[in-house]
Amino acid sequence: MKPKSPIFITFLPEARVVEASHEETLLETALRTGIEIPHSCGGNGTCGTCRVLIQVGLNKMPLRNEIEAEMANDRKFEANERLCCQNFAQEGLIIQVPERSSED
Ligand code: FES
Repeated sequence: MKPKSPIFITFLPEARVVEASHEETLLETALRTGIEIPHSCGGNGTCGTCRVLIQVGLNKMPLRNEIEAEMANDRKFEANERLCCQNFAQEGLIIQVPERSSED
């Protein structure tokens, strides 16, 4: 079996390019590489604190799963507003980690 080629994604605002894999959620990739993304529900898709904005590559991402779709609907997410814990890395994604207010 051919080894899978590595994929790279970028987290803003630091413009950190990190190696990722299709088997790892965006949250797992961020935490493994030292990028701070809040995740108060532990990645279960219930808190919304891992919300990020996909700046480039939204077209490569699958549709929201049921968990994410419910939250996106409730909280009126923009199309490029996605939950890190419910999505997997895709080559070339550029992801804006929003500044957090005290309400997040
Ligand atoms: S970590 Fe709670 S929704 Fe993603």
